Amino acid sequence: MKKFTAILLMLVMVLSLAACSSSTNSDSTTTKGDEKPIIGVTIYKYDDNFMSFVRRAIENFATDKASLEMNDSQNSQATQNDQVDTMISKGAKSLAINLVDPQAAATIVEKAKAADLPVVFFNKEPDASVLASYDKAWYVGTTSSESGVIQGEVIVNAWKAHPEWDRNGDGVMSYVLLKGEPGHPDAEARTKYAVDTIVAAGIQVQELELQTGMWDSAKAKELMDAWISKHGDAIEMVIANNDGMALGAIQSLNAAGYFEGDKFMPVVGVDAIPDALEQIKAGKMVGTVLNDAKNQGKATFELAYNVAMGKDPLDGTEWTLDDSKAVRVPYVAVTIDNIAFAEEAYK
Ligand code: BGC
Repeated sequence: MKKFTAILLMLVMVLSLAACSSSTNSDSTTTKGDEKPIIGVTIYKYDDNFMSFVRRAIENFATDKASLEMNDSQNSQATQNDQVDTMISKGAKSLAINLVDPQAAATIVEKAKAADLPVVFFNKEPDASVLASYDKAWYVGTTSSESGVIQGEVIVNAWKAHPEWDRNGDGVMSYVLLKGEPGHPDAEARTKYAVDTIVAAGIQVQELELQTGMWDSAKAKELMDAWISKHGDAIEMVIANNDGMALGAIQSLNAAGYFEGDKFMPVVGVDAIPDALEQIKAGKMVGTVLNDAKNQGKATFELAYNVAMGKDPLDGTEWTLDDSKAVRVPYVAVTIDNIAFAEEAYK
């Protein structure tokens, strides 16, 4: 009888051990198979036209792979800092940060470092020194100066092909320039390199106005309204750091009777957002520069996902990193001649 009880006891033990280990197994299978890593994302503000396309791309590429904590920082760095704290406490495995203020990168790096979390900055480039200060920090964006050079080339080609745009025939291109957010690497570089490129091509220029429209259509329209009433037809070229502002300028020009009959004003932007492509097709915009939202969103997601999974940031991707740990997606000139290509890039 004693022997029988002992065997029974052993059997119970073996069975309960088996049950225990099988439940552990199934738990770990669930974690590995079904649970996606949480990736914390901030967009500096949702109502930025271009960023809405980058955001859409990140979301599309994340489908089935990761669970995104997507935040609208509403153009406030303080709000973004709080969002980063919250994402960390919610268990994010990596961060993808579109800074509000490019100078705030060090604060975000401190937070990420303290939590031992990898961070991928995108669109607003932090100082190289900040990226270098943390081995788990990277950047996805562009080479800002390239967009200025390409925009300058688009302007040079069009200006040379249209001598009638020099309305007063003085051999000087009198321009107004709508600048993006001051201190934003893209705004600073586009402003400088677009004009430098025009001058380097041997065209004399006169700057009638240069002010910031903060990347924003409505602000640009207000500025353009004021400039048209001040300078009228003396304006011979409108250079905008982005398409959003170019579209604002076009609204203002429409209201002032441009684009009817012989009354024309060349307007050039950057981004190649769909609304700008429509204006190029309508003959109201001379050209733009493709700022590849889809590929920047793709690269941002792929790097953030890889590092969330503990992999090398470039694992299985087509991207390369430069010396400052940045993936730089190329810009491309867009005019009516290659519009179909640009349309494809924003689909
Ligand atoms: C885009 C702008 C956008 C800005 C936001 C730039 O690269 O060209 O349209 O407003 O990024 O940071």
